[in-house]
Amino acid sequence: MEPLDLTKLPVHLAVIMDGNGRWAQQRMLRRIVGHQRGAETVKMVVEQASLLGIKYLTLFAFSSENWSRPPMEVRALMTLLKKYIRQETVRMMRKNIRYNVIGNRSDLPDDVNETLEEAIRKTAGNTGMVLTLALSYGGRQELSMAAACMARDVVAGRLAPEAINVGLFETYLDTGGLPDPDFLIRTSGEMRISNFLLWQLAYTELYFTDINWPDFTINELHKALADYQSRERRFGMTSDQISRRGDLSNA
Ligand code: FPP
Repeated sequence: MEPLDLTKLPVHLAVIMDGNGRWAQQRMLRRIVGHQRGAETVKMVVEQASLLGIKYLTLFAFSSENWSRPPMEVRALMTLLKKYIRQETVRMMRKNIRYNVIGNRSDLPDDVNETLEEAIRKTAGNTGMVLTLALSYGGRQELSMAAACMARDVVAGRLAPEAINVGLFETYLDTGGLPDPDFLIRTSGEMRISNFLLWQLAYTELYFTDINWPDFTINELHKALADYQSRERRFGMTSDQISRRGDLSNA
């Protein structure tokens, strides 16, 4: 396994878990079997991230666009999600992990929402990793809802247009309170963002691997994190400025 510098891990890791369907089809299995195997990878990544001390893990579990999939697959995914959340809450308590959800919760079936509500309530006092599930989530939808909400506040006299800046805008997003992701992993060889965290990924380091999500192992996770550790994050500054900043903070 790749050696990791535990002091240089991403604070916030985001993942686009792609390739469940292809994994299943390549094995002549039903797509849902791919999702079930994908849920096992979720368990491994949650456990590893929490063990390594990553503070925030955000998983793209169901996009706004995924509602257009065949109804049988949507139903099966919702059932799988509910089962995962129910089964894993005890483990989340043991590992001090707090559940969080972003996305349009009102689109989700009532029973899924109730299960989520209970899991969020039970884990609310946990102080370890924050596990955010993006459910019925789309970046454009999130941004347009934030704009609509701001417009309502301006019209109601609660917000002055001059007060709108980057910091204030962020408080209107679903992710308000979470730091931006430092690192994004996408599996299955696709090199796109697919409407995930459009605002928040502005300076995120991106990592793409050909491995399908059900085949993503601890080794692959460590390989990705080692790659992150080899990168220089400049945030628009020069390399010199970054190393001087490093010298000052080490002084
Ligand atoms: C993308 O694979 C994956 C999804 C749309 C759903 C992700 C869900 C899981 C990993 C399992 C359940 C989640 C949790 C949090 C327990 P795809 O179906 O688009 O694959 P394809 O591109 O090969 O068809």
